[in-house]
Amino acid sequence: MNSQIINRILLGVNIDHVATLRQARGTSYPDPAKAALDAEEAGADSITLHLREDRRHIIDSDVGKMRSLIQTPMNLEIALNEAMVSLAAKLQPNHVCFVPERREELTTEGGLDVLKHTAQLTDTVQQLKEKNVEVSVFIDPDCQQIEAALACGVPAIELHTGHYSESHDPKTLQQEIVRLKKALEFGLKHHLVVNAGHGLNYTNVEPIAAMTGLNTLNIGHAIIARAIFVGIKQAVVDMKQLLRDAMLNRG
Ligand code: PXP
Repeated sequence: MNSQIINRILLGVNIDHVATLRQARGTSYPDPAKAALDAEEAGADSITLHLREDRRHIIDSDVGKMRSLIQTPMNLEIALNEAMVSLAAKLQPNHVCFVPERREELTTEGGLDVLKHTAQLTDTVQQLKEKNVEVSVFIDPDCQQIEAALACGVPAIELHTGHYSESHDPKTLQQEIVRLKKALEFGLKHHLVVNAGHGLNYTNVEPIAAMTGLNTLNIGHAIIARAIFVGIKQAVVDMKQLLRDAMLNRG
């Protein structure tokens, strides 16, 4: 079998910011579920949405509606607390990704500190597994955090690419790439599914998409921003093409 097919990197399209636009005016449009369906039609491999505690973009009814409409796996990002976990147990998305949340932040800033939440996370992984929901954790590319995630029985992790995305000088960029690669290799060695995301866009995605072994890249803001000019289907097609090119150009 062609190893390039085995190592195909998947695109998870995050549609939160379609809802941001709707919530800005309290209208019923644009509909994030319609965006999710268009993204799927254009080749999205999964749909990601973040149900924040303050409901600033995605609201509960979006999750229910999308759950019944989309054909690809749903990856629901939530905070690690009892209320959100019981919602997830009820809604049963395919995947839940636990992210840290601070109300005053513009977007998710750092990774979850798994070391601080091991007991709660261990129970939650089991509780959601019984509902057929696979848990991942959004963490910094740090082997200690990955070890803690493993100890909690988490089957998948999502590496935070925010520092990489915000790095501008070549030396820091290179350091971030090395950190991400090291974390990826460590995760794979321990049989974890390794995803990545945050701040990835059409100009910086290539070195990340070229990393062999990554499963899914979750990308939102850049795709929705491009959709204003080219439409969501074309924006997804363009990003998929970049992932394909990066994969084919792997050294
Ligand atoms: N992954 C996680 C865990 C996130 O919290 C976010 C932002 O909601 C993303 C990926 C997507 O980030 P961006 O919108 O910057 O592409």
